Amino acid sequence: MQGDVVKALLEALGADVVTLPEQFGSRQVVDWSGLPGKTPRALVRPRNTDEVATAMRICNEYRQPVVTQGGLTGLVGGANVLDAELALSLDRMNHIVEIDRVSGTMTVEAGTPLQVVQEAALDADLYFPLDLGARGSCTIGGNLATNAGGNRVIKYGMMRDQVLGVEAVLASGEVVGALHKMIKNNSGYDLRNLLIGSEGTLGVITSAVLRLRPRPRAVATAWCALPSYSAVTKLLEEAQAGLAAGVSAFEVMWAGYYDAVLANLPELRAPVAERYPFYVLLESVGGDPVRHAQAFEEFLGRMLEAEIVSDAALAVSESDALAFWAIRDAPGEYPKFIPDHAAFDVSFSISNVGDVAQRCDVRLRERWPQAVVMIYGHLGDGNIHIVVDVPGAGKTLHGEIDDVIYDVTREFHGSVSAEHGIGTKKKAYLEFTRSDADVAAMRAVKAALDPNGILNPGKIF
Ligand code: FAD
Ligand code: LAC
Ligand code: ZN
Repeated sequence: MQGDVVKALLEALGADVVTLPEQFGSRQVVDWSGLPGKTPRALVRPRNTDEVATAMRICNEYRQPVVTQGGLTGLVGGANVLDAELALSLDRMNHIVEIDRVSGTMTVEAGTPLQVVQEAALDADLYFPLDLGARGSCTIGGNLATNAGGNRVIKYGMMRDQVLGVEAVLASGEVVGALHKMIKNNSGYDLRNLLIGSEGTLGVITSAVLRLRPRPRAVATAWCALPSYSAVTKLLEEAQAGLAAGVSAFEVMWAGYYDAVLANLPELRAPVAERYPFYVLLESVGGDPVRHAQAFEEFLGRMLEAEIVSDAALAVSESDALAFWAIRDAPGEYPKFIPDHAAFDVSFSISNVGDVAQRCDVRLRERWPQAVVMIYGHLGDGNIHIVVDVPGAGKTLHGEIDDVIYDVTREFHGSVSAEHGIGTKKKAYLEFTRSDADVAAMRAVKAALDPNGILNPGKIF
């Protein structure tokens, strides 16, 4: 039966679209999580929605499980093959279909990389605000399927907030959704929002209409050093109230993160001379370059004067700003110096984050005094990442480290996944954040849309 499905796919789609392991050979087939993944029994690379629909119809008929793959930058094993699934890659569906300046939209195929979308928006003198370290490789389909967050959520929202229309293929091969450009559409259940964040378990997202924003004419960026967590939250409050154009990024880094990345990545430069307990990369985008820069500098001056900020470096060129962002984007370099680290993506009310970080740090160090603990993240969204590396332990302690962090997450009524999703990595901890009734409702939706359970089986629950 299994051989038959590949034969049927080959007959319907051809050998250019359907390839076997001996043909796709060394191609990457696992995501960034470091979790194990098998080689798919075949790789399907459709060129358009019709081909995706054909592939799904055949797979459904043969009860052949399918894992949809985008840029494979996911961090929870969501795109990994667990057993005898096929991989369906959107990498060929990578075209920008249209930019509509009047409606402020960009229609794209789901395999388009995020950075391509960002650059095309700028070329059209518009702006696509979603941004994250994996921008060069992650795809719009993956961003939608994980409801990605990243660095500018504080001003513009998550991926869910950047999209007007979504087209997807269900397990049956039926095409749902539409590539419309309406901001308002209350005509029944919102399938778009059901598909967003569904991690490839409810449908294959094939295209989307993205919402573009006015291109910011001015960007002001500063690297701030702070004495305490209460100073960090005070700076956030003051920035939100005092910067007329608002805050477009508020990325916090505890000293442990800053010290570790600077020590291990020689290309990074320290923006301030001394070492401090906390650092914040503060960014505000605005309309008028002269007035914006002036207002930002004055705000920073007031924060220094009030001793909320102990020291600061203001970016006076784009390359300064990029150098600050390089420190914040260092997680892309973890494979170079902590390949076996355990990583977390948790969220809380902003007022709790300081205590959460401290409790995690204390409990980790009680158990493993030599642990490297790096804490950083999107504080404006209450979302921190915790990265733990116990030198010499490889990955053997991951289960125990998970228990420490997720116990604290439960104690503070936080979420086990702020932005990366559940995949397989956090399945065992889903109930720390979601009730039995929530999970039962999710399972009912899954059963209704994918009765044969062929889309990304074994993920989320
Ligand atoms: P993949 O890894 O290929 O897939 C991810 C999941 O989506 C899988 O479950 C897969 O089955 C499903 N999927 C992919 N494409 C489709 C589709 N077309 N239709 C249906 N399902 C699909 N994430 C954040 O939220 N914020 C960050 O700040 C952030 N920073 C990162 C920094 C680095 C250095 C790295 C490596 C990752 C980071 N990520 C971040 C995680 C990751 O980039 C995002 O989850 C991204 O959205 C995944 O996109 P992808 O195309 O690589 O998806
Ligand atoms: C980040 C990823 C890991 O914010 O979400 O760096
Ligand atoms: Zn993040």
